[in-house]
Amino acid sequence: MRSKDLISILDLSVAEIEEIFSTARRLKEKQKKGEECLPLKGKSLAMIFAKSSTRTRVSFEVGMLQLGGHALFMSTQDMQLKRGETIHDTAKTLSRYVDGIMMRTYSHKDVLEMAEHATIPVINGLTDLLHPCQALTDIFTIIEKKGAAAGLKIVYLGDGDNVANSLAVIAGKLGLFLVLCIPPGYEPDKGIIKEANILAAGSGAKIEITNDPQAAAIAADILYTDVWTSMGKEQEREERLRVFKPYQLNSKLLAKANPDCLIMHCLPAHRGEEITDEIMASRQNISFDQAENRLHVQKAILALLLGK
Ligand code: CP
Ligand code: NVA
Repeated sequence: MRSKDLISILDLSVAEIEEIFSTARRLKEKQKKGEECLPLKGKSLAMIFAKSSTRTRVSFEVGMLQLGGHALFMSTQDMQLKRGETIHDTAKTLSRYVDGIMMRTYSHKDVLEMAEHATIPVINGLTDLLHPCQALTDIFTIIEKKGAAAGLKIVYLGDGDNVANSLAVIAGKLGLFLVLCIPPGYEPDKGIIKEANILAAGSGAKIEITNDPQAAAIAADILYTDVWTSMGKEQEREERLRVFKPYQLNSKLLAKANPDCLIMHCLPAHRGEEITDEIMASRQNISFDQAENRLHVQKAILALLLGK
């Protein structure tokens, strides 16, 4: 990969995205067969978390182990960052010890600053703005299940958050049809949508933003949702529960979609809010396959960035 880091899918060429997918497919196959593959033998990844995580933490940690390396979990609560050490000095210090940094934080600027000053690869494990590892995994999963993502109607319902932003970028890159169905006032980042539309002009992607869930769900091949209250927005929870109610992924909405429509969720799910128990239990729900694929796709990213 050309870029030292993976901060946004904007940093990747289409060929690089395809390389991540083909590497992930190969690594997944090997793992399923029980074959060892240790390109990162002796290498270490520092995983910095300013926010909670289940999937990202475990998939990166287990991924490093399966590639022959090692991962260190570092909560910002316990780091000198909390006591005023700068990101600049943290980046310089960690670059002397480890071979890569994965960072989950609030401000997107923080991960950019880390990447600027680290001499080693920095991987964005989610910021308020973007969640690139998630969107790469999501499209990888759609291709795995449906044979291709191009030509499908992919409908995302809910908050115009980090997941929605990253889906818009990857749709723009890969020429996909993405409908973002989002209540007024919660639209995705304007700058990101502008970039995604510039990409779409070249790739043939169609990115629509609407606020009518009933119309958006008609003939959908994929219905995707995410939590209504992202990490860091907890004080807005009551208001969000009210505003987002019509955007719930439930059986009434699913009935409008294509009969073989698949349900996706980056997880964690807040059952009874953005998605019902019934939909979570349906055979069309592929969110746990999606969660598993975080492991395979991130192993590919790690092998390509740290294995250079
Ligand atoms: N989807 C996702 O990133 O999950 P975690 O917050 O559990 O890492
Ligand atoms: N939008 C969610 C994603 C969690 C993986 C959040 O930021 O909390």
